[in-house]
Amino acid sequence: MAEIAAENAVTVQNLLSALEGESNANAKYNAFATKAEADGLRGAASLFRAAARAEQIHATNHARVIVQLGGKVAIKIHEIEVGSTLENLKTALAGEQYEVATMYPEFIAEATAHNNAAAIRTFHGAMEAEKTHARLYAEAIALVESGAKDAWTSKLRDFFVCPVCGYTSETPNEHDRCPVCNAPWSKFEVIH
Ligand SMILES: [Fe+2]
Ligand SMILES: [Fe+2]
Repeated sequence: MAEIAAENAVTVQNLLSALEGESNANAKYNAFATKAEADGLRGAASLFRAAARAEQIHATNHARVIVQLGGKVAIKIHEIEVGSTLENLKTALAGEQYEVATMYPEFIAEATAHNNAAAIRTFHGAMEAEKTHARLYAEAIALVESGAKDAWTSKLRDFFVCPVCGYTSETPNEHDRCPVCNAPWSKFEVIH
């Protein structure tokens, strides 16, 4: 049986924390998508589904590295509090901002100190994707707050998600390849 090397113990703990965060974000965003549909904010629902798919990709990537390092995958799923769609968008934005500004930078610094390339790669991919989510959630909040009826938040729409790192875009063919992980754009998943 694989065992966790002493120098990887903290990295594995961090991977488990990130796995829990991503898995709970996936569950939460799917619940928020259902609420957004009920609120008639179908574009916001599309965004929640796209971000949920990206978080699932992050969770899978983190889990793979945990196993590579001899750890065991375990996830605690928390209770989900669903508010209004505007509240849910703000909750989602706050979660993304925490991951981008605090959690992933700390985890990347720790993995870098131990030269753990696989952990650095999965943390970095997730952090860069979370930046795209934060940008899109902030845009959606402004549109919902403005009350504009013809805003993209009101209509079902497509988002494009990198199947390797979860980079999320509202623009078809934004690049030839994923700007984070270099996967071909033609492989991106269309989520609506
Ligand atoms: Fe995210
Ligand atoms: Fe990517």
